[in-house]
Amino acid sequence: TAEADLIGRHVVVSAGGTREPLDPVRYLGNRSSGKQGYALARTAAARGARVTLIAANAQLPDPAGVDVVHVGTAVQLREAVLKAAPEADAVVMAAAVADFRPATYAAGKIKKRDGQEPEPIALVRNPDILAEIAGDRARADQVIVGFAAETDDVLANGRAKLERKGCDLLVVNEVGERKTFGAEENEAVVLGADGSETQVPHGPKEALADTLWDLVVHRLG
Ligand code: PMT
Repeated sequence: TAEADLIGRHVVVSAGGTREPLDPVRYLGNRSSGKQGYALARTAAARGARVTLIAANAQLPDPAGVDVVHVGTAVQLREAVLKAAPEADAVVMAAAVADFRPATYAAGKIKKRDGQEPEPIALVRNPDILAEIAGDRARADQVIVGFAAETDDVLANGRAKLERKGCDLLVVNEVGERKTFGAEENEAVVLGADGSETQVPHGPKEALADTLWDLVVHRLG
């Protein structure tokens, strides 16, 4: 039984993983399924929020009662987030965003040539969307939440990331080839810019989402 404590609020959630095309056939991507972000969108809607879900390549059905914007690349994700963020009470960046993209896009399929060494792939930096919306806030009372996908030194890396990105809350979860990505369950520590630390035990991604909305509601006052 969800509380209707997000009635009158507009929240923006990003989900899934960006894909950075190399040529018409190939891309650089990551293992995010979108499940955690979709769980955040569903639970926020159940608590009465108006929800904008910005979905990067998630193969999941659009949640009922949620505005879904589908995107492919980090640059497209940035555009959609910057468009929706000014109106939002809270923005939660659960999407796995590529830090780099191929420097060039080949209009035709890249061919392998007999006896030739493969060409290295040159990369350029993608914009850091979370740092941008947290650093240049559309509204002073907005709550900005990031996620941190870490494979080691989870907490130390999380604390450093929270400070670097300038967000209010950072959900630190451990990931691996078979961990968290695509799973139905997750576990995390939610770090607050105020020094707080909230442990979320292993359980459904909806449960983590609800705990996160509790923390957001508290900060919205
Ligand atoms: O989708 P699932 O299969 O359910 O898996 C869930 C998840 C593991 C993808 C999710 O819980 C998660 O951790 N998402 C964040 C993944 C990520 O990109 O982490 P990061 O540590 O690389 O980035 C930190 C934060 O900055 C994230 O909020 C990210 O959205 C944001 N970011 C990162 C790079 C960039 N260029 N722009 C960003 O805004």
